[in-house]
Amino acid sequence: MALLREPLLAAARSERLRRLTERSAITRPVVNRFIAGSGEDDALRTTAELVGDGLTVTLDFLGEDTLSPEQAAHTVQAYRSVLAALASAGLAGSAEVSVKLSAIGQALPGDGEKIALEGARQICEAAAAAGTTVTCDMEDHTTTDSTLAIVSELRADFPWVGAVLQAYLKRTEGDCRDLSGPGSRIRLCKGAYAEPESVAFAGNAVEESYRRCLRVLFAGQGYPMVASHDPNMIAAARSLIAQHDRAPDSYEFQMLYGIRPTEQRALAAAGNRMRVYVPYGDEWYGYFMRRLAERPANLAFFLRSLASKK
Ligand code: FDA
Repeated sequence: MALLREPLLAAARSERLRRLTERSAITRPVVNRFIAGSGEDDALRTTAELVGDGLTVTLDFLGEDTLSPEQAAHTVQAYRSVLAALASAGLAGSAEVSVKLSAIGQALPGDGEKIALEGARQICEAAAAAGTTVTCDMEDHTTTDSTLAIVSELRADFPWVGAVLQAYLKRTEGDCRDLSGPGSRIRLCKGAYAEPESVAFAGNAVEESYRRCLRVLFAGQGYPMVASHDPNMIAAARSLIAQHDRAPDSYEFQMLYGIRPTEQRALAAAGNRMRVYVPYGDEWYGYFMRRLAERPANLAFFLRSLASKK
């Protein structure tokens, strides 16, 4: 499977494959295991179901690597709209949003970073009005400095803005240290992009790094968000929670929609806050390909479903 990871992650960035796959009627039912649906109503319905099961939610309006200012503005508007809808439905206390800065213009030539900051600010204003929070996703390592700089600017006005850190990056233990101050919301994940070994660990070293980062975050004064399906990472977090006598409202676990749903409910039933990352929208290709690259069983499920449609 390690051999397949690189080509799948390369395919995740192919514009031609994206266009072909997103339009195919065959793939959509398979994709629906990982994605709530196309529209805001699908996002709302899924959120209500998960909240009804004792879970919390972060909604992701799918899209990345936007190269048109109009598309970036459209994405900002989609977030403002879903935040207002969450508030109207009485769900904003249990659901926030996750934003990929490349979907709101970060990669646009020239003023990209400024455009993304302005768009993120508008999303944060809508979140504040709804009474919830925003977390900025982390993309490939060439964007890390820019993303952390934007998060830092946003935090001056909205101190609850969360950031994602990726344990596979060699810099991340240091970033955890810098970002473990009071109130700092840090979502720690392993990392999902193809990265060169000059900047990233591989194999077991990723898990070792994840454990070190967890230790820094739980010893700090911030709010760690443990984003992993890996039972070993979850066990490591649980032992740190006990060691630091962390109150249940001072950290949370997070998993992706459609992955280990039984474990999600078990963690919530055991008294932990458990947040499910729920993507919705039509631009599911990059997200979906990263899920295939991550786990042989996901790829096998996809291939089996395609075969059964013949
Ligand atoms: P991994 O996939 O490495 O699995 C490890 C082990 O967990 C497996 O060997 C198996 O034992 C167990 N396991 C996993 N899935 C299972 C299943 N379905 N059933 C049974 N056992 C299973 N990445 C990124 O680069 N930027 C980002 O902003 C984000 N954001 C994000 C948010 C949230 C909430 C999550 C959960 C993840 C992300 N990610 C991410 C993705 C992340 O970086 C990573 O690619 C995936 O979570 C996969 O890594 P895991 O730690 O989950 O375990």
